[in-house]
Amino acid sequence: MAYRIAPSILSADFARLGEEVRAVAAAGADLIHFDVMDNHYVPNLTVGPLVCAAIRPHVQLPLDVHLMVKPVDRLVSEFAKAGAGIISFHPEASEHVDRTIALIKEHGCKAGLVFNPATPLSFLDHTLEKLDLVLLMSVNPGFGGQQFIPSVLPKIADARKRIDAVGKPIWLEVDGGIKADNIAQVARAGADTFVAGSAIFGSKDYAATIRDMRSRLGVL
Ligand code: DX5
Ligand code: ZN
Repeated sequence: MAYRIAPSILSADFARLGEEVRAVAAAGADLIHFDVMDNHYVPNLTVGPLVCAAIRPHVQLPLDVHLMVKPVDRLVSEFAKAGAGIISFHPEASEHVDRTIALIKEHGCKAGLVFNPATPLSFLDHTLEKLDLVLLMSVNPGFGGQQFIPSVLPKIADARKRIDAVGKPIWLEVDGGIKADNIAQVARAGADTFVAGSAIFGSKDYAATIRDMRSRLGVL
């Protein structure tokens, strides 16, 4: 199993964002997770395509854009132009989920669908084969530094089964409350890609934290 660690810039120092993304890239990150919040779909407001474009030249890593916005479609082309590699959205935020997935792919990006803790996986019934990524939220979206919700573990296992049944290399990412001391449990449930905001950016030594996470995953 190839595991990927995706530091979320939500917990980075926004006044030094270029430096922060370079630091996590040098520390061994696999992706940069970019949380976009609109104070409408979620009760918080973060950054948009301008900031995405501004950090793009600082790292080679794929930018993993997590859209917590409603509506979704207009921002897809903006983020594609700003250098996003993956664009994920919440099905509740799009009137036409299949169309939004197609739009992301037409723009040359990988497409992901995001599930809140209470969102049923039935949204995968007619979409999974078209997706590159399934993102399960293990907190309610809107804020960094929240507690991991353990009832998401069986849901991760369920999503893993669905992905294996399709037989395509669809990534299974989990977002919220992931730290070195629970990452192995999340991996055992079936996840392969781990978002970590406060656990990485809140630590003194990013490389040591990422190394600790990888050692808990049994890969160093
Ligand atoms: C929450 C965001 C997460 C968040 C994770 O809405 O989607 O990406 O930054 O932060 P931690 O790892 O601190 O829970
Ligand atoms: Zn996120």
